[in-house]
Amino acid sequence: MSPIPFSLYIHIPWCIRKCPYCDFNSHSAPKELPEKAYVRALLEDLESELPHIWGRKLESIFIGGGTPSLFSADSIDELITGIHALLPFRPNIEITMEANPGTFEQERFKGFREAGINRLSIGIQSFNQQHLKALGRVHSNTEALQAAEIATAAGFDNYNLDLMFGLPQQTQEQALRDLEQTIELSPTHLSWYQLTLEPNTAFHKHPPVLPEDDLIAGIQLTGQDLISTSDYTQYEVSAYAQTGKECRHNLNYWEFGDYIGIGAGAHGKVTLADQSVTRYTKYRQPTQYLRQVEAGQPRSSEHQLSETDLKFEFMLNALRLRNGFSTELFQQRTGLAQQDIEKELELAISRDLLIMNNQRIRPTEHGWLYLNEVIQLFLED
Ligand SMILES: C[S@@+](CC[C@H](N)C(=O)[O-])C[C@H]1O[C@@H](n2cnc3c(N)ncnc32)[C@H](O)[C@@H]1O
Ligand code: SF4
Repeated sequence: MSPIPFSLYIHIPWCIRKCPYCDFNSHSAPKELPEKAYVRALLEDLESELPHIWGRKLESIFIGGGTPSLFSADSIDELITGIHALLPFRPNIEITMEANPGTFEQERFKGFREAGINRLSIGIQSFNQQHLKALGRVHSNTEALQAAEIATAAGFDNYNLDLMFGLPQQTQEQALRDLEQTIELSPTHLSWYQLTLEPNTAFHKHPPVLPEDDLIAGIQLTGQDLISTSDYTQYEVSAYAQTGKECRHNLNYWEFGDYIGIGAGAHGKVTLADQSVTRYTKYRQPTQYLRQVEAGQPRSSEHQLSETDLKFEFMLNALRLRNGFSTELFQQRTGLAQQDIEKELELAISRDLLIMNNQRIRPTEHGWLYLNEVIQLFLED
């Protein structure tokens, strides 16, 4: 098996304004974004990580947020050039950037493409004006439709559209119409998330009326039928792709690969030479993060994963994949042996939750519906 793949996540923590459902580390943008200072800090942050990853080549980069498309093409160019000066890239590296429809201008997007971004992830959420308003989005349905067109004209032939369902007062017809409109645009990738009410969000404090569970289940079933009769295959709980267009960066998370995280609140996971696995987090508040980078200490916490953590976290990720994982992958990514999960596997197989075929383990149809239960089995002694 080839060495553990290695990727880079970059967090840009600002948005035009905070959406009421969002619990990501995103903050309303100040009048003047400290773009230059932040790009400099990101590169210093990356430099501080280099001793842990000497000699490794990057498979993918993901610039997420927040709203990275608030940054200028020049800043993104400076960032990618700076990263390349510090780390070697694999020849066909995937470089994704998240973009919000309200921030789309064709010229800027051409600039992002020229800076080396070769994949966009566009946060559409819905094409329905009433739902966009209920979600507190800053873009209109026309801008949502134009975003894909502008991306294509700017030279992006690989892009994802993010869509949510189970929106306030949404009917099944409306949810399916959103999906149909998405499919008509023919993105290479589609992420279809159920809206969840997250603690510490405005929606959690003042919950909107969401569709009943039965209606949500109906939307999910009919929606999946619609997607699968189109050009897309589901490969993860919320991710659908045209053939060969799975998101390599996210696949690396789900396959328990390594990644560096730079930027406010970013996480990383690195396997060291002695096979131990460390996870760490960067300071979350943008101003504190900038100060901490200057002081040479951007990590706010770090810990080494125990054997129980490794088993559980591997399953938490890999069982999200429709085709599961090979036992070889489990051994390589955790440093554990197959017999370390034998008991849990036998139990899950006897309950018709997992199936093992040619050393490949994946959820059964039944297990796919009760993934949390399956994953919990690997947490127990
Ligand atoms: C990191 S977010 C932000 C991307 C981009 N800033 C945007 O909003 O368009 C990535 C995606 O997570 C999804 N998401 C965010 N909050 C969610 C929630 N509470 N429930 C379900 N999906 C959510 C949205 O589809 C969003 O596009
Ligand atoms: S624009 Fe995206 S990241 Fe920003 S608050 Fe809204 S959902 Fe969160």
